[in-house]
Amino acid sequence: MCACASPDSVSKDQILLFQKKVFGFYKSNGRNLPWRMTNDPYLILLSEVMLQQTQVSRVIDYFEQWKNRWPTIQDLASATRQDVLKAWLGLGYNNRGLRLHQAAKIICKEFGGNVLEAMKHFESIPGVGRYTANAVLIFSSNADVVTVDTNIRRILIHEFGLCEDISDKEIWEFAFRCLPKHKSRMWHNALMDFGALELTAKKTGIKPKTQQSSFEGSDRQIRAKVLRLLLDCSLSFDHIHEGLDIYDVGDARLKDIIAGMLKDGLIIRENESNCFCIKEDGS
Ligand code: ADE
Repeated sequence: MCACASPDSVSKDQILLFQKKVFGFYKSNGRNLPWRMTNDPYLILLSEVMLQQTQVSRVIDYFEQWKNRWPTIQDLASATRQDVLKAWLGLGYNNRGLRLHQAAKIICKEFGGNVLEAMKHFESIPGVGRYTANAVLIFSSNADVVTVDTNIRRILIHEFGLCEDISDKEIWEFAFRCLPKHKSRMWHNALMDFGALELTAKKTGIKPKTQQSSFEGSDRQIRAKVLRLLLDCSLSFDHIHEGLDIYDVGDARLKDIIAGMLKDGLIIRENESNCFCIKEDGS
């Protein structure tokens, strides 16, 4: 017999106590993060995409830089792909930057620049899933919807003794039961701080559903390095290989990595030559 609690067995009183605990923690320990100073859906979207799989401390400077450089979604949509990639470098998972750029273009073209409206149709926006779409609705307009990231999932499992393999559907439904109505923005900020500062993964031992692979020596690291090399000039396969000297990447592996980058549209073959370069807008 499974010893876990079922979300259905959690009472209203237990939920009220939980809300009190999380808000109590937030009152004394809440963080002043730059994206919490704005209700602008575009800036919230920017922060949420940057925060996907990246720590808050690393995102803060990038968020400020992007906000100053591209203060509106129209500004970002008009930027060049190369500038976007350059500005993203160091944050990791470069595809996220490119998808955000594409998202900005689509939101401007198809939704007249209305980010909130676009979030309601998130399936057609690159790089935006239900988590991000709801986060934008919550943090910019205090909408009574929920979002469940790794931290929130961990908190709910730990605080209510739920099974670690609880389905997404069940945990999202339970998260909605826990939501104090009309306080969605504050509630999600409080949950995020409670998860990051108090009920950490280390303390609970609860593993994230999808674990990040180690970056060092990974294909992701090699892809990032190839991209950096190609930001300065176009290069042949052999020159890319040379540029990766310290990484000890075999021929076959580099071929696979480059094939993947071509497939993802990160790079292209330059004018049918044997050189590769960054894909420019419209090319
Ligand atoms: N992680 C994802 N979104 C976040 C937010 N808005 N604040 C802090 N951490 C986050």
